[in-house]
Amino acid sequence: MSRRTLPLFVTHDGISSRSDITCKYKCGDACSHAVPNTSPGEYFGDIVRTALSRRGVLRGGAMAVLAVGAGGVLTACANDSAAAPVSDGAAAGAGDLGPVPDGTNFSPVAPNTDDAVTVPDGYEQEVVIRWGDPVLPDAPAFDIGNQTAAAQEKQFGFNNDFAGLLPVDGSPDTHLLVVSHEYTTEPFMFAGYDADDPTEEQVRIGIAGHGLSVVQVRGEPGTGRLTPEFGPYNRRITGTTEFLVTGPAAGSDLLKTTADPTGTRVAGTLNNCAGGVTPWGTVLSGEENFDQYFANADTVTDPVLAERLARYGVEGTETERKWERFDPRFDIAAEPNEVNRFGWIVEIDPWDATSVPVKHTALGRFKHEAATIHVTADGTVVAYSGDDERFDYMYKFVSSRKMQNGNSRAAVRHNMTLLDAGTLYVAKLTGDHPDAIDGSGKLPEGGKFSGTGEWIPLLRANEDGSAESLVDGMSAEEVAVFTRLAGDRVGATKMDRPEDFEPNPVTGKVYVALTNNTKRGVDGAAPADEANPRVNNKNGQILEIDDDHAGRSFTWTLLLVCGDPDEADTYFGGFDKSQVSPISCPDNLAFDTHGNLWISTDGNALGSNDGLFSVVLDGPRRGETKQFLSVPVGAETCGPIVQDDRVVVCVQHPGETDESSWASPASHWPDGGASQPRPAVVAVWKSGGGRIGI
Ligand code: FEO
Ligand code: CA
Ligand code: CA
Ligand code: CA
Repeated sequence: MSRRTLPLFVTHDGISSRSDITCKYKCGDACSHAVPNTSPGEYFGDIVRTALSRRGVLRGGAMAVLAVGAGGVLTACANDSAAAPVSDGAAAGAGDLGPVPDGTNFSPVAPNTDDAVTVPDGYEQEVVIRWGDPVLPDAPAFDIGNQTAAAQEKQFGFNNDFAGLLPVDGSPDTHLLVVSHEYTTEPFMFAGYDADDPTEEQVRIGIAGHGLSVVQVRGEPGTGRLTPEFGPYNRRITGTTEFLVTGPAAGSDLLKTTADPTGTRVAGTLNNCAGGVTPWGTVLSGEENFDQYFANADTVTDPVLAERLARYGVEGTETERKWERFDPRFDIAAEPNEVNRFGWIVEIDPWDATSVPVKHTALGRFKHEAATIHVTADGTVVAYSGDDERFDYMYKFVSSRKMQNGNSRAAVRHNMTLLDAGTLYVAKLTGDHPDAIDGSGKLPEGGKFSGTGEWIPLLRANEDGSAESLVDGMSAEEVAVFTRLAGDRVGATKMDRPEDFEPNPVTGKVYVALTNNTKRGVDGAAPADEANPRVNNKNGQILEIDDDHAGRSFTWTLLLVCGDPDEADTYFGGFDKSQVSPISCPDNLAFDTHGNLWISTDGNALGSNDGLFSVVLDGPRRGETKQFLSVPVGAETCGPIVQDDRVVVCVQHPGETDESSWASPASHWPDGGASQPRPAVVAVWKSGGGRIGI
């Protein structure tokens, strides 16, 4: 069949396109701080193993070599490395590729820098709901010049990230749209905002702009349009909504505060990034960069406490938003344990607007990107979660209780206990070709990066509420609350920022977006390994895991090594690289009903706007990557949902560029004219109706 030449638009301006202001407000400038993981991890182990395999026997000399500095050893290894062929990228796909797989038959959009949501020819898009739109019936109309916290508590929050659509029984075109509001960007929310002297009302609006929204939406037959409605389940969850703590850390001294001497009731959820819809109809959400909300870590003198804070990147004096001036719980000097009450997977029951959401401590505390569920044949529930920090770890939790089928209230109540009893594991990966990894991204002989893996148990939570630590030197409570330190002790594998972690509902294989890590192999940081094969990794990669879901072993391969397909360090599953869309900084993952992977990006380092991409996983087109949409200037693409007749994305932080300000916005999306940009959810469908990608 004839081959298309895809329109490519690739620049080479170096690093991720994420702006300074997004870094500051989204993740507390995580990437400009020292890497929190200073553990030796398997860094030294890798070097020893590599050196042993390469040089045969290296007995007493191994540690002496290590003592002179890891960088020197890495250099020596790289110089020793046997030359492996660089993929020409054209191995597969040269012959008959067969038909375009269902779900991916669309004309890819060209990479661009437009201030618009761009979709393929023959498709339409429209905003579903934006920051400030009413969620509750008594919400006042949004008035950007006269905001109040009371209004924001009833309106759609800021910077939408995760999106879930849950069908309403008996009402075929009606769904609950559940969206997270990861963070607020005050300079783009308030005219004349003074970052040195925010008002109390601005602080309260910021706290209310975080959390989640539950909104009933009605579909329109024949299109994918979604219209918000005031339904009985509509709800705002914010930085002050009451949460119940469950699992091994519930009631722990490590969680007790002045306001909550029980250590079981927390006000609010913060920095809710991605998430997952559970098979039992609830929503999981990851509390990610929570460290940035807590002030005065620098006043801590206790070395144990200081180490715990540092491992989570909690540092400094004042915070960027200065909430501590108006609420002392954000001041570590006043409330040292409040910070321990964030960094969890939370579960929301969207079918009861009065329900108390839960923080599940059996899944461990780290910068959870999200959590997503696979259910085994016997009803065991496996929750996968990545810790989105450079050189941090991948985790899974395996339940001891079994899922109950059906969506009765009794079944939901039971299933909301599934994540409280079971075993928490951290991943250790071993490459098949350690001698061939030199940090350049050069493919090993055999043509792919691959290996095996082991899930190392950290914590067992029992059904009677007791728990056992499986890590020497740490109690069960400590493993739950300081999970990163537990991962350090067992030598977990340091990854390139594990973001979304998603099981394929068709094949059961599990996929992880490793977004980037420009510190990999730099300044003495951990060197490249086979799963993280590039130093100064600007563009990220996609890991494919064939997991024994409830067990402890797996095999893995890299599906994509992202970036400019014209560059030798990229890999698209073996597919012809001249026939793919460039992709950079993968973040969120989703699957369509055909089993194709969809990837949204955050911080495209290739110079064009972020987007949403489809990737074929099986057959002769494995690795074929096509851009389905792009988002406006300064924005990140989040929350993808790919249904048969509709795609939904969250457009997060439109207009957040270094050159922009309230007075001079870089984007006027979505309202146009001279308007300020507003984060919003967008629905996309085929003109005149019909199935996506067919
Ligand atoms: Fe909020 Fe890991 O992205
Ligand atoms: Ca993310
Ligand atoms: Ca996902
Ligand atoms: Ca991200």
